[in-house]
Formats: sequence, C-alpha cells, structure tokens
Amino acid sequence: MIDVVVGGFFGDEGKGKIAAYLSLADSPDASVRTGSVNAGHTVVYDGNSWKLRSLPSAFVNPRVKLYIAAGALIRLDVLLKEISETGVHDRLCIDRNSGVIEDKHVSFEQSDSVMKGIGSTGQGVGAATADRVLRRLKLANEFKELNGFICDSLSELLDIMDRGGRIIAEGTQGYYLSLYHGTYPYVTSRDTTASAILSEIGLGPKSVDQVIVVFKSYITRVGEGPLPGELDHDEMVKRGLVEKGTVTGRLRRAAPFNVELALRAVRSNSATQIALTKIDALFPENKNVRSWEKLSREAKRFIEWIEESLKVPVTLIGTGEDVLSIIDLRKHHKIM
Ligand code: IMP
Ligand code: MG
Repeated sequence: MIDVVVGGFFGDEGKGKIAAYLSLADSPDASVRTGSVNAGHTVVYDGNSWKLRSLPSAFVNPRVKLYIAAGALIRLDVLLKEISETGVHDRLCIDRNSGVIEDKHVSFEQSDSVMKGIGSTGQGVGAATADRVLRRLKLANEFKELNGFICDSLSELLDIMDRGGRIIAEGTQGYYLSLYHGTYPYVTSRDTTASAILSEIGLGPKSVDQVIVVFKSYITRVGEGPLPGELDHDEMVKRGLVEKGTVTGRLRRAAPFNVELALRAVRSNSATQIALTKIDALFPENKNVRSWEKLSREAKRFIEWIEESLKVPVTLIGTGEDVLSIIDLRKHHKIM
C-alpha cells in the first residue's frame, strides 16, 4: 500500500509536514524520498525544527525505515550532516543507483547565465542530472563514505509491499516546477508529478493506494517565472504571507490560491486526496485547531469552495507549524 505525496503549485506547499504527519499517524513501514537538495522540507515537531534536503520527512517516527530512491540525487556533505542531526544511521538505506552531485556541478550552476536567469537554487542538481543523462555521473555505490548505507531500495520496497506493508513516497517541489508540465524554462530539472516520483523509485502505478496533492492556502514561488495573481510586497505584508526559501533564504513571491492551476495539478496527478496547509495564515483564529467543528465559518467556507471546485476531498488541513497541528478528516471521508 503506497501513499504518494506531491506538491500541487510551485513547491513549498508543506509536503514535509504532511509526510511527517502521516508517518506519526499511520506508522508506515517505510518512507522513500525522491528529488534532490534544491528542495528543502521543513519539519517542526515537539519543539524541534529540521530543514531536510535529502532525508524523508517521515524520519520523525523512529520505527519508519528510510529510503533514498534510485532516481534521487544526493550531495555527500549535505546528506552526512542530516544523518548526524537526525540520528537515523541504523534505519537509512541509500539506493546504490542514487546519483551524486559533486563540487563541479555546483560551480557550474553558480556561474552559468541561463541558470541565473531561471533563478536556480544553484545547488548543482540540473548539472548533475545532465551528467546522469550523459551517463557520466558517479553513483552512490562508488563512494566509500556511504558504505554502510548502500542497498537495493527497490527490492526492499517490493518486499515490504508483498508483505502487505505501507510505504510513503515523498515527492519534492511542485507540479508547476515540472520540467515537462511546468512553466518551462522556469522550472526545475526533473518531472515533479506523482508518476515521475514513482518512476524515480521504480514502482508501478497500480501499486499506489492514495495520491495526496498538497496545496498551501495561498501560492508562493521562489525564483523567476510566471505567477498568476502575484501580490506586491506591501500586499504580502498586509496579508501576512511573507516567507523565505528553506534552501536559499530568498524571499518567496506570493499570490492567492488559484483554482485553475490547482485543478490541472489534481487531474494530472490523479489525486485521491488534497492536503491544504497553512489555513491559519489566511484565518489566524484557526491556529493549531485540531477539529473541523472548531474551524471558523470563513475557513470552512474556503475549504468547501476548494473541495467543490476540485472535486476531490480535502482530507488533511494544516493549522500551524507543528507536524501535529493538523485536522485529519480521512476517517470522515472513509479513506482510512
Ligand atoms: P533549480 O532546480 O535549483 O535549478 O531551480 C529552478 C527553479 O525551481 C528556480 O525557480 C527555483 O527557485 C525552483 N525550485 C527548485 N527547487 C525548489 C523547491 O524545492 N521549492 C521551491 N522552488 C524550487
Ligand atoms: Mg521547500
């Protein structure tokens, strides 16, 4: 049984928080992370805060085995630091075929004018992906620093599925940053759809139980490229929507929730559920609320509008920073 978690806008929708919540609420057997270090997932739990760029956010549950997919790209320094910060040494598996970003990839991106024009995070991900396509990128099993962690992640994940286990597949970035389906050329260097995430892991579409598309209650975008309904800075401040990027610290651009964009992302990902985060940013009186009944009338109306427009149930509603600041309506919608 697989739950796939993907972003529906331009990244930073709160996928990390949702994956971490699912790991605590559902106690899956495993969680597998795709993508690379350009994507930062923030996890706030129990008074601590982590900014993860390589590890699955599901690490917060110590019983969950963690995987880095064959199609993912890692950077040794970033990954080793995260391993020591989270203490997951004995339950981490890095696929032998994960690609490794080296210093030359980072220097290339930081000096290349095309990458600068796109507003790339400059983390070497696109350059390493290009080398992988040219079949000259080094893979994880070539690095002795990773010796104790290397495995065949796909065969372990398939075994978990054969035993009837549960797996969370953690996507990175958002639908409109997809290399194929996003706002090219202002996109990242990979496809960010649910299908592509499965392909990075090696799992087939019929193994999926739930596709959870995560939207924030408003849109943010870092870097260049179109953003329908973009607010100017004063308006962002007035509405309390000012955010900074996890990886780069850049100010995020912001716009109101856009049903048209959301609908395309929902349909293209074959979403079965929607997670809606940061409802407390739009309706502050709902901060840390944990039941539907306690939401304000305006917040309920906003959520119902999204549900009616997208024709997919909003099952998880984020009401605060902490992983557990969530309203979980999956039982109500008979999804669990
Ligand atoms: P790159 O993937 O680092 O080359 O960046 C290309 C574009 O995607 C830039 O506009 C980045 O800001 C954006 N981007 C890449 N990864 C993320 C992410 O995880 N969250 C939000 N934006 C991202
Ligand atoms: Mg992020």
